[in-house]
Amino acid sequence: MMRRVGLSQPQITDDEITEVTSVLRSGWITTGPKCAEFAADLARFVEAPRVELFSSCTDAIELALRSVDVDGGIVLTSAMGFPGTMHAIERAGGRPWLCDVDPATGLIDVDLLERMMNGNDVRAVIPVHLNGMPADMTAIDALCAGRDVAIVEDAAHALPASVDGRTIGDPSGPIGVRRLTAFSFQATKTLTTAEGGALTGPDDLLDEAVRWRLHGMSRDVWTRHASGGPTWRYDIIRPGLKSNMSDVHAAIGVAQLRRAWAAQSRRCWISGRYDVALGQLDGVDLLPRLPGRAWSRYVYPLFVDPARRNQYLEQLAAAGVGSSVYFIPLHEFSHFRDFYGDAIPGATEYSARHLAIPCHAAMSNDDVDYVVDQVTAVLTS
Ligand SMILES: Cc1ncc(COP(=O)(O)O)c(C=O)c1O
Repeated sequence: MMRRVGLSQPQITDDEITEVTSVLRSGWITTGPKCAEFAADLARFVEAPRVELFSSCTDAIELALRSVDVDGGIVLTSAMGFPGTMHAIERAGGRPWLCDVDPATGLIDVDLLERMMNGNDVRAVIPVHLNGMPADMTAIDALCAGRDVAIVEDAAHALPASVDGRTIGDPSGPIGVRRLTAFSFQATKTLTTAEGGALTGPDDLLDEAVRWRLHGMSRDVWTRHASGGPTWRYDIIRPGLKSNMSDVHAAIGVAQLRRAWAAQSRRCWISGRYDVALGQLDGVDLLPRLPGRAWSRYVYPLFVDPARRNQYLEQLAAAGVGSSVYFIPLHEFSHFRDFYGDAIPGATEYSARHLAIPCHAAMSNDDVDYVVDQVTAVLTS
């Protein structure tokens, strides 16, 4: 019997509804105590001493770049990434340069990254943890620490994930490393607040990012309200953004975080079923499992014949199974094309073979069986 299994679907339970309702009834719905609670819970989850919340990951990346001051310099990022990250670089006053990726994993090619850094005015590097699989952060930390190049991890897909024992979000690292990590809670992500983002990193850089977050005000509204002093007095110290999270959004996050490990183990179970059932099909490759890296399984990709990939997408849609491509390589968009031409071969190859299938905690066992059956039928037709 035909079913419909979406590529992604938020798992919203009574817990989220109760949390949101209690904020709505509390009389304080914008940035306030619920944001503080969510930030503290998230800090424990990602093993960071401090988390700052934003209205999106894109803004978190922009303000991370402003905090490390990339003005006029080069910011290197992965050609397999999301356009918002490129816009964040442009808005922060950096010059975006794309680095190619390993065509098997879609992760930034660290040898090429090193060559691109040599002799150039590189101020920051933004590795993208594509699909939720971390880039080789041990090598990237080592490369950047000695050169005074900042790192902003695009961890939009990587909650939770770890590399060589470091949880993505934990700001610790080798001496000299200046690393911030940006997360996304947009609706499709492993943990959602409907829309939202967060940043971890060293205190001085987070302090600077926060100065830009709310109109460049010296004190946010809740801090002024809670201090008991005059609520109207503040200074403007930056041409800031309007990028704060509201307590209504944070309330969803608080509830989501209580189930975050359960959701992760559910995605691990689903991806394990796919590994066994689909990994043995002719002409299908899986995402290579990399030593020392634990991944979120935000996206479960299959790598298929590029000549037939688009037809597979259509056949799966007709069978009720959501599927997609993460992503179109950045150099193929017209806004960026003029800078890069067509010469980013690893990203082109990776993207042409990529086919993402549903892997999320809202799936039932019957949904998983259905996806296995339909994907098998389509890929062996
Ligand atoms: C890799 C990557 N980086 C950044 C973002 C931007 O996240 P947000 O929508 O929270 O700004 C996304 C969004 O999908 C993404 O996939």
